[in-house]
Amino acid sequence: MVTILAIETSCDDTSVAIVNDKKICSNVVASQNELHSHYGGIVPEVASREHLLHINYCIEKSLQIAKLNWNEIDGIAATVAPGLVGALIIGETAAKTLSMIHDKPFLGIHHLEGHIYANYLCKTDLEPPFLCLLVSGGHTSLIHVKDYEFYEELGKTRDDAAGEAFDKVARLLDLGYPGGPIIDKLATTGNPKKFNLPEGRISLPQGGYHPYDSSFSGLKTAVLRLVEKFKKEQNSLLPVADIAASFQETIVRSLTKKTIKCAIDHNIDRIAIGGGVAANSGLRNHLTKAAKKHNLKFYCPPFDLCTDNAAMIACAAANHLAKGRRSSWSLQVQSRLKISETMKLYQ
Ligand code: KG4
Ligand code: ZN
Repeated sequence: MVTILAIETSCDDTSVAIVNDKKICSNVVASQNELHSHYGGIVPEVASREHLLHINYCIEKSLQIAKLNWNEIDGIAATVAPGLVGALIIGETAAKTLSMIHDKPFLGIHHLEGHIYANYLCKTDLEPPFLCLLVSGGHTSLIHVKDYEFYEELGKTRDDAAGEAFDKVARLLDLGYPGGPIIDKLATTGNPKKFNLPEGRISLPQGGYHPYDSSFSGLKTAVLRLVEKFKKEQNSLLPVADIAASFQETIVRSLTKKTIKCAIDHNIDRIAIGGGVAANSGLRNHLTKAAKKHNLKFYCPPFDLCTDNAAMIACAAANHLAKGRRSSWSLQVQSRLKISETMKLYQ
């Protein structure tokens, strides 16, 4: 069993974790949410500067909490793709430097592979093959996890990611950033059937609709029109909770339908989820019920392992290192990289 120290700085959270195989020894997360909330979204330059300010403290703290020293660490990992390049570079440079100083293997990790690995960190019997619905601020994909490192993307969003839609709708409703958790909470007090909003569908040239691909930009525009209508016609208080609940219901219904259909069509009997939107209570409830109805097994990581964290990155790195893989020190960060290309990161 290998022990990995991993660094995650792909977006706006600085995180450092130590994981022994699938056991979390420490998982330190320094969130930048409050800072970016002033701008209503992530400002990449600000995110990079913050990573730089917090990374050394997070590394020290993760060793302290795990009660481990450098001799007890077998490998050092960092998220290298996909993500904000300026932010990724901070974690990558720190990890490579530590790997040189302490003479340990360096492993570059695919961020989305990390989100999938969050599912292995929770003492479950989950093993590939399974279908993973990956829903974050930057991605919405249905991924067939064929083995621990072999992936096929079966569905994706054609425009906004699910988390992006939550964040944009929250901004329209003046709710703050990040929008997902705020809408999730507010939705519990609203009527999800109050407004009939459109589920985005992708037309196919031969007729009909794509069974697994999503589109959320139309839904976002429908919420915008609704808000404008209320402001213009009624000039009264916006029914914010009902709009939040109806929006969440629409997005969750669409994701659930596509996930279940994809699993059944591909004869996959296990479904997992990952990414920040996987923390959404509506999505977890819908998927739990739908999976039960169709006799599929459903797995979901605890809330704190859905959003960005380095424990999931360390868990993925532990698998790669245990199988004798390592990355070159000349490996560069990449803003985009398909999950099916994960193995390109290793020598
Ligand atoms: O995975 P993540 O932490 O970062 C990325 O890799 O993008 O996901 C962040 C996204 C944000 O868009 C945030 O609004 C959304 O996840 N999110 C949620 C919830 N918690 C976080 N969306 C819906 N419901 C939630 N409870
Ligand atoms: Zn993420």
